Amino acid sequence: MGRRIDAPSVVRAVARYALALALVTLALLISLAFQNSIGNPFWFFFSAAVILSTWLGGTGPGWLAVIYSTLAVMYYFMPPLHRFAVTPRELPYFVTFVACEIGVTQLISWRRHTEDVLRRARDELEVRVAERTAEIKRQMAEQRRTEETLQATRAELARAARITTIGELTASIAHEVNQPLAAVVANADACVAWLSRETPDLAEARSAAERATQGATRASEVIVRIRSLITKATPEKSKVQINQVIEQTAAVAERQAANNHVAIKLELSPDLPVVVGDSIQLQQVILNLVVNGIEAMTTVTDRPKMLILRTEPENKNQIRVSVQDTGIGLTEEVKGRLFEPFFTTRSKGMGMGLSISRSIIEAHGGRLWAESNGSDGATFQFTLPNEDSPGI
Ligand SMILES: Nc1ncnc2c1ncn2[C@@H]1O[C@H](COP(=O)(O)OP(=O)(O)OP(=O)(O)O)[C@@H](O)[C@H]1O
Ligand SMILES: [Mg+2]
Repeated sequence: MGRRIDAPSVVRAVARYALALALVTLALLISLAFQNSIGNPFWFFFSAAVILSTWLGGTGPGWLAVIYSTLAVMYYFMPPLHRFAVTPRELPYFVTFVACEIGVTQLISWRRHTEDVLRRARDELEVRVAERTAEIKRQMAEQRRTEETLQATRAELARAARITTIGELTASIAHEVNQPLAAVVANADACVAWLSRETPDLAEARSAAERATQGATRASEVIVRIRSLITKATPEKSKVQINQVIEQTAAVAERQAANNHVAIKLELSPDLPVVVGDSIQLQQVILNLVVNGIEAMTTVTDRPKMLILRTEPENKNQIRVSVQDTGIGLTEEVKGRLFEPFFTTRSKGMGMGLSISRSIIEAHGGRLWAESNGSDGATFQFTLPNEDSPGI
């Protein structure tokens, strides 16, 4: 592709050549003016004009300055004067002058060229760096968007999985709410009875009313907990007593365990450090492991069905939670795919419980894994860094 010649670049070229002519003319005038007072100063002034013309204007104007200087020196300063000729005697001197002028202009051209090349290389580098930076910024923005979408999808899936689990636990939940409500009714009846006596026993009536209030508060707490389990999508970190979460979860799953003739046993270490995390998410993990354990024992008939929930400190910075069952255990094939999303062997399962549980535990800085107890069931375990662990 040929270079496009536009009007501004023609004007710039003319100006560069005009500058060369002006500089040499100036050198000529100064040399003529000082000719008689300081001998023959043209060497200095013409050389300066050639250097400046080449430096400011480039190679073309530099050559113009050399030719113009040569003619001017030949005409005004070399015998025979005022003729474009040089006597043989002055020839070596004149040739030296011309050679020096040519050498100077070549040297300056070369310097200019080198600087141009360097400048262009730097400009290109800057452009490339800017392009690469923009590209990296774009990629980062895209990655951030993908991560946000992924996070939102994961949160939505976690909610869906919670709802599925809660669906299975409706009987337990109803039981949990019914118990305090029954207590409310019994205490309200008692209160009315104490008041209806011939001489109302106000003290007994008051304590019955207080018990009714406590029962109602407990029922509403259960509702609040279940509501947050259903609706909550974004994680909230706070100090969590994992033993408390396990006790609550075991209470929620109690009815389902009883229906399946499963005994839930708690072996909770009393001096467990506090962990930092989202208690609802951690409850979801434990609930899923508990429901999975109960499910794994439905077909067992030849041994006691036992679900042990155990907590213990794990080295200095962690705690370990284990859920051990006496169910069907894990075949090698199942074991390899347990944590894959949508892997399930249950007709009503979604296959998301364990994959979500693992991502929750990993987001808390811990690890979740499964082990087979031979032919006697499976143990699912997870660790969590405790409150004082570095990075928490
Ligand atoms: N304690 C266990 N003993 C034996 N197999 C288990 C146990 N826990 C999980 N599994 C196997 O891992 C599979 C995946 O479990 P996961 O909790 O991810 O999904 P799910 O329980 O099938 O469905 P959901 O998404 O409703 O929890 C189960 O279908 C089951 O085959
Ligand atoms: Mg499950």
